[in-house]
Amino acid sequence: MQILKEKDALKKLVKALKNERKSIGFVPTMGALHEGHLSLIKQSLSSCDKTVVSIFVNPTQFDNPADLEKYPRTLKDDVSKIQSLSPEVIVFTPTATEIYGDQISSEEFSFDGLEHQMEGRFRKGHFNGVGTIVKKLFEMVEPDRAYFGEKDFQQLQIIRKLVEKNSLDVEIIGCPIYREYNGLARSSRNERLSPDARQNAAFIFQTLQKVKDDFGTKSASEITTWVSEVFKAQPGFELEYFEIADSETLESMKDRGSNHKYRAFIAAYSGEIRLIDNIALN
Ligand code: PAJ
Repeated sequence: MQILKEKDALKKLVKALKNERKSIGFVPTMGALHEGHLSLIKQSLSSCDKTVVSIFVNPTQFDNPADLEKYPRTLKDDVSKIQSLSPEVIVFTPTATEIYGDQISSEEFSFDGLEHQMEGRFRKGHFNGVGTIVKKLFEMVEPDRAYFGEKDFQQLQIIRKLVEKNSLDVEIIGCPIYREYNGLARSSRNERLSPDARQNAAFIFQTLQKVKDDFGTKSASEITTWVSEVFKAQPGFELEYFEIADSETLESMKDRGSNHKYRAFIAAYSGEIRLIDNIALN
């Protein structure tokens, strides 16, 4: 397995692959890899000649320095997980200086309003940071396809917009949410939940499933009221937001448009731990 830290080495390798007409699949990550990340890598391996996985805890997407500090860094484990999927993967693990030089800052983007919804309201500057790093990585890896999880559905739509607005030549593949056996969306944050809290957190997905069942018969405002009531009745959980939103624009659903796709989104705290999840409604 090739593990590269320098962008010049990566670019050289990419050039050689392009000369050989190999298709390149790319999975950007921040490490602390779990089954959710691995499902993206598997998808790339199954449809591209070569797969590049980046492991980089991107400083510009953290609005809180303490979160950046606390973010788990488990490179050795990550590498062995990737190795057990395939020894052919190229792993890119740059330093912040390698990526940003001396100036660690974000580009300012407009994602046509996608950035102002949901996560954008609660995580200032987050999507400028994500856009900045993903654009830089795309320039280095020059992938034919790049894989992103629907777990971070807003991020996935923002990346699609980044590609569209900058006319980038890469196909964005959205991958299904990988869940624990009780339905909880897999996340590195789940490790920080107590065993009881991890069990109880299945409640988030159960709520989303009930929302999906009711979507045909109840209005968005009835459903929203119901969700806020069930959260109030659930000890240990605090709802940050619940939205039924248009899958394309991510705007709150007002009246149901006949050709529109909708999703329900939840961000909630279990104690100190912030969890997000979403589900397709139609
Ligand atoms: P990270 O949180 O490491 O996630 C990397 C990719 O894994 C993202 O596309 C995310 O949506 C996907 N993922 C995480 N949990 C998943 C799950 N349970 N099921 C399916 N996919 C899952 O997202 C980022 O890193 C960063 O913002 C990044 C895009 C790398 C830019 O820094």
